[in-house]
Amino acid sequence: MADDKKKTTSTMWGGRFAEGPAEAMERFNACLDEDKRLAMEDIDGSLAHAAMLGAQGILTAEEADAIAKGLETIRQEIIDGSFTWSEALEDVHMNVESRLRELIGDPAGKLHTGRSRNDQVATDTKLYTRRRLDTLAERLRDVQKAFLAQAEGHTETVMPGFTHLQIAQPISYAFYCMAYVEMFERDRQRLLNARTVLNESPLGAAALAGTPHPIDRQSTAKALGFDGPARNALDAVSARDFALEAVSAASICAVHISRYAEEVVVYATPQFGYVTVGDTYSTGSSIMPQLRNLDAAELLRAQVAPVSGAFTALTLATKGLPLAYSKDLQEVKKPLMEALDALDIALDILARMIASTVPNPEAMARDANKGFSTATDLADGLAKLGVPFRDAHHIVGALVALAEGKGCLLSEVSLAEAQKVSPHITQEMLEGLTPLASIRAKQSEGSTSPEAVEAQMAYWRGMLAT
Ligand code: ARG
Repeated sequence: MADDKKKTTSTMWGGRFAEGPAEAMERFNACLDEDKRLAMEDIDGSLAHAAMLGAQGILTAEEADAIAKGLETIRQEIIDGSFTWSEALEDVHMNVESRLRELIGDPAGKLHTGRSRNDQVATDTKLYTRRRLDTLAERLRDVQKAFLAQAEGHTETVMPGFTHLQIAQPISYAFYCMAYVEMFERDRQRLLNARTVLNESPLGAAALAGTPHPIDRQSTAKALGFDGPARNALDAVSARDFALEAVSAASICAVHISRYAEEVVVYATPQFGYVTVGDTYSTGSSIMPQLRNLDAAELLRAQVAPVSGAFTALTLATKGLPLAYSKDLQEVKKPLMEALDALDIALDILARMIASTVPNPEAMARDANKGFSTATDLADGLAKLGVPFRDAHHIVGALVALAEGKGCLLSEVSLAEAQKVSPHITQEMLEGLTPLASIRAKQSEGSTSPEAVEAQMAYWRGMLAT
């Protein structure tokens, strides 16, 4: 192992050190990849803090003003790419402060009055998470709109509904699409709930115990769009459950994406053929010319890996940590960002892939009639005549066995044979065993009947219009 190169001591915290950190340590200690993504939030936080210090008379108006101007210059430098990031300065907080000193001199050193990097990083990461959650909630709206658009005009387009992936009962394609609108609505609520829970400001908690300076945490909280300051400084700098919660909600959403993606992979195969994903979201095989692969759906199905993996990483990074700050918490930012990135891309692609998808009613209708999918309807018909449902179930079971033996549909069993099984069965009942009649016969709220699905769609048209 080569000798460690030593550095001069840090200008930020090096007062008590004779030597600076080894180069390897400097690299290990820095978190610039993540912190570059927190830069705008960091500057917003510093601007709010500086304005408050000025208003409280902790800084003079001139000092606060010089700091604000300097911070805006730095914001522009970061945006246009001219800002020089230094790994020796570890993170965004010290990079910004150091540049501020170059730009405005001494007043820069007063910006850190009444705060610490501990409350800064907690504040920045919360602001960042909040912003990303808002975008994700918007993306979920786009996904819901795409599903609603798929549903339009298809309340009588029958397809098989499955249980255990076996044809169970006929449903409509619109009903199927609207199921996902509901599922993704809960995901949206969970993300927004995470946003609500996190929206307390850590700023001014300082290192862990608060500060003797007469700061006004209410005003910085307000300036940054928080509902108010976090009540306990020790908790404020220690807490990262907001990241866990956001990623947990993201992880559940990724699971839902994977369920739809899996169905697309299955339904778009030639064997099923229920839907065709547009050329824009399909791919070919480099060897087999005939193939039309569902790479978009398969990648979507896999996105639960980075998101759920990040949840595990966050759990492990924060587990067993004593209050307040430990450097372990620096490791929260990367999985948090990776999870939100993965979900963000997934939702964007998902909405686009759905929009490119075309249903194939013939293929769906073909299968909707298979597998004695209307057997339950016959049992329900008998039950309506007063036959106890359990007995009706048994009768229809026997008829299914009969039809299976003959290789015909339930509706094709002769009346004479059917009546040997149950005298209650009529020709009309047998002829009525079609998938369309089945969905039309449903009467319960939330069912697959065209009226019930139309009601669901009307509700969502209203909700998604704004
Ligand atoms: N770079 C650190 C992080 O991202 C900032 C907080 C450092 N605080 C400390 N006491 N070392 O977590």
